[in-house]
Amino acid sequence: MKNRLPVREAILKRKTYEAPAEGRAGKIRLDFNENTSGCGRAVLRALRRLTPEQFAMYPEYQEPTRRIAGYLGVRAKELVLTNGGDDALRVFFDAFVEPRSHILICEPTFPMYRYYAEIAGARVEVCRYDANMRFPEREVVAALRRSPRVFFLANPNNPTGTLVAPAALRRILAAARNTAVVLDEAYAEFSGFSTLPWVRRYGNLFVARTFSKAAGLAALRLGAVIASPDSLQPIRRALPPFPVNLAALVAAEAALRERKAIRSYVRTVLRLRKSFAGSLGRLGVATFPSAGNFLLANFGPAGPALFEKLERKGILLRDRSRDIGPGFVRITIGTPREMKTLLAAIRRNWKAS
Ligand SMILES: Cc1ncc(COP(=O)(O)O)c(C=O)c1O
Repeated sequence: MKNRLPVREAILKRKTYEAPAEGRAGKIRLDFNENTSGCGRAVLRALRRLTPEQFAMYPEYQEPTRRIAGYLGVRAKELVLTNGGDDALRVFFDAFVEPRSHILICEPTFPMYRYYAEIAGARVEVCRYDANMRFPEREVVAALRRSPRVFFLANPNNPTGTLVAPAALRRILAAARNTAVVLDEAYAEFSGFSTLPWVRRYGNLFVARTFSKAAGLAALRLGAVIASPDSLQPIRRALPPFPVNLAALVAAEAALRERKAIRSYVRTVLRLRKSFAGSLGRLGVATFPSAGNFLLANFGPAGPALFEKLERKGILLRDRSRDIGPGFVRITIGTPREMKTLLAAIRRNWKAS
């Protein structure tokens, strides 16, 4: 039976999203920038200690917020917790964006900015990274003069790995007079650079963070928005009363108590990223400098056939042929063993392709 309920125009224009994250368990998952070595042991111990009573209670946020803020070096009133990093981006549409208002992004980038913009019925202006994946600073500054409601910038950027220098970020914040600047720092632990201390200086700066990447908690969905208390007010008003579940809070706190494990994972990723880029280079495959836990590589026209072959062998990469160019692929840096398996598989199948 067909229903004739009135649906918003922006939704009618959209296709239903087909989640690509099915059937991946047990494979070599280098396609989602997850921490493939898994979360720390302390997280599991903390989750096991939860009681039936705690599960039946609505979660309380004050104490966990204070402790997570402490880890990030900000005050509790400068931070709100969200249901994953994705939701730390979505809240900007609820708080700042009307249908047909204008947002600014730089592509190629994380697709959720465009995704939420389409749902909101917003107009998306795009500046593009150049062929060397350099950030288009001049175009962005010019676009900010047209006062978009929000400018979303992943820093480091997924999938290019680009990290925008502090001086350029300052110029952007100065140019964004009527624009909320959202710096999405999902990969900050890997870049070693964060603008968190700047929220006290710039009222138009919002930093989005996630526990899905370095902390290895992607399944639990925990993110955060950090800004000056005044600037954060519209975001607080747009949030539901219980945006985050208790397991995510308990896990995040345990992960933070065991920060050594996160640091050691980050060090391993940085080491492997360098050696893997070197190995690809020796095979004649170009890579781009990356500040994240992933590498963008260009295998050229024969790339897509190779990626399909690898997928059939249970090695998942993120083929970006469609939005960047034939043969571009984003490769998450996994464990030493996973990277060794991948490299061997590329060596075997690359010559053949
Ligand atoms: C740039 C960027 N921002 C945010 C996220 C969101 O992560 P999550 O919703 O798992 O916190 C991702 C995940 O891939 C990302 O690459």
